[in-house]
Amino acid sequence: MALVNEHYLKLAAGYLFPEIARRVAEFTASHPEHAREVIRCGIGDVTEPLPPSAVRAMQQATAELADRATFKGYGPGTGYESVRAAIAEGDFRSRGIAVADDEIFLSDGSKGDCGNILEILGTGNRIAVSDPVYPAYVDANVMFGNTGAALAGGGYEGILYLPATEANGFLVDVPDASAAAPDIIYLCSPNNPTGTVMDRTRATRWVEYARAHRSIIFWDAAYEAYNRGDAPKSIFEIAGARECAVEFRSFSKSGGFTGVRCGYTVVPKELKAYTRAGDAVALHPLWTRRWNTRSNGVSYAVQRGAEALYTVDGRREVAALVDHYMENARILREGCAAAGLRTWGGEHAPYVWCRVPDGLDSWGFFDHLLRQARVVTTPGAGFGRCGEGYFRISAFNSRANVEEVVRRMRALLAR
Ligand code: MLT
Repeated sequence: MALVNEHYLKLAAGYLFPEIARRVAEFTASHPEHAREVIRCGIGDVTEPLPPSAVRAMQQATAELADRATFKGYGPGTGYESVRAAIAEGDFRSRGIAVADDEIFLSDGSKGDCGNILEILGTGNRIAVSDPVYPAYVDANVMFGNTGAALAGGGYEGILYLPATEANGFLVDVPDASAAAPDIIYLCSPNNPTGTVMDRTRATRWVEYARAHRSIIFWDAAYEAYNRGDAPKSIFEIAGARECAVEFRSFSKSGGFTGVRCGYTVVPKELKAYTRAGDAVALHPLWTRRWNTRSNGVSYAVQRGAEALYTVDGRREVAALVDHYMENARILREGCAAAGLRTWGGEHAPYVWCRVPDGLDSWGFFDHLLRQARVVTTPGAGFGRCGEGYFRISAFNSRANVEEVVRRMRALLAR
């Protein structure tokens, strides 16, 4: 008899973004006359073409694969050396952060990595996440068996939810000294969904907390390219983080790779977890072992495309792409404020977080905006209990669409 992974049966609802897509499909099926008017600012999916440097590098790589003299088969599971070196130099050492080439592990994106890494830690770790939170962290831990049952009203038994609220500026702080310390702490900065950015003082407190409790921080920096202020771009800017943190990065939102698929994880050699007997075990060799056994890595052409983002031209093109979405975020932030909404984020992040107008909950406002303005957003409740009463707008869109969204929202909210 084949057994099923019963942890999957605990999952309370479908994944958030397919649920949004389902509601939009239902609306367009019942109102086909409005289907073409719908503007999607729900899932954070890029809209602009790939940087030309990445396109050229991928075309060149494909040409190499088409020629017997330059053909390549399996590559190293953890990534080609030149690509790992370009990343370690470009994102870290050139900014004064010590990261070795072989501490970079290429993957198909950080969404997978933030769940896959649980494999080398096993079950039984107590997980902490912010609330609201990017739902992939929670669902991965449910699937893996790190939680109990779904709770009435949202969330899962056994997860420590750290409320991110207006009161703390949507930035989570370390738990009280009296509370049982979590073993794994997911932190995302710039934050998805609230668009807020963790300051250096808080990040330092988290590193000190993790070291004191022998916990590990999973620092999701998928939106790092949007952080142009003084806040840490990498957790490894904080002294001591190499002993207590893993960092996830993605080319999805910097190089527009949501469809291409490439990201990477940084696992420092100093990082350790513990056996139940209390013996320290380095995680770098385990993660290397995991990759070499479970994957043959990212495709050659995609890796070459990612590497090209670190050339002089590639950097300029990425900056232009990020500028485009950042200007969209400014237009959305200011437009929502002018429409009378309270907003957060959108200054060093591609997401604007808004308070739902009085009288509606976040799914109610989602439906109202969809039906009355034909604008798709993401309801805050989809990110957790503390997201109720808020909604997220993604700045990943064309300029024309973003301007139209602001026009429609202002008209709707002025009624
Ligand atoms: C989001 O919209 O939160 C993300 O882009 C979706 C994802 O990365 O999975």
